[in-house]
Amino acid sequence: MTIKNTKWVLRNRPEGLVKDSDFELITEIMPEIQEDEILIENLFLSFDPTQRTWLNDMPGYLPPVQIGEVVRSGGMGRVLESNNPEYKVGDLAFGFVGWQSHCITKPTGDERFRVIPDILPIPTMLNVMGTTGITAYYGLVELGNPQPGETVLVSGAAGATGSVAVQIAKFKGCHVIGIAGGAEKCAWLKELGVDDVIDYKNSNVAEELPKLAKNGIDIYFDNVGGDILETVLFCININARILLCGGISSGYDANRLPAGPRNLFSLIIKRATMQGFLVLDYIPQSQKALEEIATWVMEGKLKHREDVQEGIENCPQTLNRLFTGENKGKQLLKI
Ligand SMILES: NC(=O)c1ccc[n+]([C@@H]2O[C@H](COP(=O)([O-])OP(=O)(O)OC[C@H]3O[C@@H](n4cnc5c(N)ncnc54)[C@H](OP(=O)(O)O)[C@@H]3O)[C@@H](O)[C@H]2O)c1
Repeated sequence: MTIKNTKWVLRNRPEGLVKDSDFELITEIMPEIQEDEILIENLFLSFDPTQRTWLNDMPGYLPPVQIGEVVRSGGMGRVLESNNPEYKVGDLAFGFVGWQSHCITKPTGDERFRVIPDILPIPTMLNVMGTTGITAYYGLVELGNPQPGETVLVSGAAGATGSVAVQIAKFKGCHVIGIAGGAEKCAWLKELGVDDVIDYKNSNVAEELPKLAKNGIDIYFDNVGGDILETVLFCININARILLCGGISSGYDANRLPAGPRNLFSLIIKRATMQGFLVLDYIPQSQKALEEIATWVMEGKLKHREDVQEGIENCPQTLNRLFTGENKGKQLLKI
């Protein structure tokens, strides 16, 4: 069977929002699969802010995508052909599929694909039941150790990761404050049960936060970094835990380093900890989190929304939605 693959390869290092001209859309005939390889038909691509950092020529936790390479992204596909005993035709598989309609992979080591049970809709599996849910769960529950009555602040709160983190914090009996951009996202946070919200695009966080966090902040789940992190450091309590999940305001889309918070001394005064973490380290042990998340989802307790764009030709614009804030929930693209 002749299979054609349509793929986006990187042509230039982008500056700021990406442009179609930073890439090239190519169609090619797929080769035959070799020993231990599988051929996957990609169904949904996951869009994550970190993908933008992989397009920069800067050191990171994964090597930069090289000029001429397919743009790296997670996603879910169906196994079409298999020469690997661990995967059978028809399996749903999650892994680094890339911005393309098909991929051939020898799934070992970092290239491993997880076979996903076909029980919930794929968008749900890529959102709360995927790395997004695992990130929020391990960041907040395992590292943050939230206690009833504590105040938890989440930035990027209406996004995919943030919206799971705020809800788990409520399940744990915390007072939860969410920061998000725009009235619609703030209204959604209230629907999720968030106690107080700050619309950072239409108000002054430095003025609003001390008014809302009268008892100080015990846990800050940080998705944005930058100025908001600096503001929060002025409001933390003794023994506060600051969980650095992401820093989307701090130059993901630029080939230069952002300014740092100037008040790290607050960590000393407040005997606080600031800890970065990467979901990749938690995926192998994610069973416990996924079981608990699945229960919350099945009970209708954990709400989630997915923003599904369509068409492989729309990959670049879909990535930009994460940086303009257009995405309403987990950003996906259906191929
Ligand atoms: N550590 C890990 O392993 C890990 C894993 C997954 C994700 N993350 C991080 O978690 C964060 C959220 O990722 P996600 O996949 O859940 O995406 P998301 O929150 O669904 O989408 C990104 C959101 O970031 C906000 N944003 C964009 N530019 C901003 C800016 N300059 N300042 C403030 N907010 C801005 C926008 O929301 P508004 O409309 O509210 O501005 C946008 O909707 C990212 O920083 C990501 O890198 C980390």
